[in-house]
Amino acid sequence: RIVYVNGDWVPEAEAKVSVFDRGFLMADGVYEVTSVLDGKLIDFEGHCLRLDRSLSELEMTNPHSNAEWLAIFREIVAQNGIVDGMVYLQVTRGNPGDRDFAYPAADLPPTVVLFTQSKPGLADSPAAKTGWKVISVEDIRWGRRDIKTVQLLYPSMAKMAAKKAGVDDAWLVEDGFVTEGTSNNAYIVKGNRIITRALSSDILHGITRAAVLRFAAEAQFEVEERNFTIAEAQEADEAFITSASAFVMPVVEIDGAALSGGKVGPVATRMRELYLDEMR
Ligand code: PDD
Repeated sequence: RIVYVNGDWVPEAEAKVSVFDRGFLMADGVYEVTSVLDGKLIDFEGHCLRLDRSLSELEMTNPHSNAEWLAIFREIVAQNGIVDGMVYLQVTRGNPGDRDFAYPAADLPPTVVLFTQSKPGLADSPAAKTGWKVISVEDIRWGRRDIKTVQLLYPSMAKMAAKKAGVDDAWLVEDGFVTEGTSNNAYIVKGNRIITRALSSDILHGITRAAVLRFAAEAQFEVEERNFTIAEAQEADEAFITSASAFVMPVVEIDGAALSGGKVGPVATRMRELYLDEMR
């Protein structure tokens, strides 16, 4: 792969970032994952807006305008011949030349890294036909989950707990209520109602979530933004998750309890179709 590091286009084996980079030492940085379908960037503007917000919450300056980002994204897609796949973008606070808890001077240039992942047939994932199984685990992450930081150790631990349990993902639960999945937003369906946790610093403000809720309302579903428990989810008609990489993925089992007879339901299927039709 050709990767991007601070303005340079280099083969991945030649890419270098300092050992003093704050991203490496402090997880001091933010990222975005944007899908590519048939060569087209999916919801690029949404990801740009969130990147800008994440950076400003960490008092970092956005090193590029949206037009510049778009040119870089297009270039990396072209250089790697990506048809279906992902663009990963990471901006860290940069290399102050030593380790220090305090932020370095604001004029320190950030470290910008991009790479691609090729995923042929990404939108036709067979998992979307069978759905995911999830377990619940306690949500012990920090309190600013609305900032898309590269601090992903607990989500990795939760993903490993899911793998060890033989399922696909974990839903995180705080004070008895589901916050979100390890790397996706969580939903349940009751009749014509789609229920998902309201936006706050408790969850990431999913770009896919915003689009899916818009399309759901347009398709005459009722959208309810409120907390729900694992017990309520297990009793629901259907469940699903959304993310830039999984789009809309049905969930058919929660902590061993099957939903809609363990089969993918019509609402999750419809929302996946609507999302993919509208976005690509
Ligand atoms: N994860 N919640 C969390 C904790 C996430 O990490 C993500 C995205 C989402 C969904 O957001 P969006 O719809 O904007 O992708 C929700 C990305 C895909 C990842 O870490 O790979």
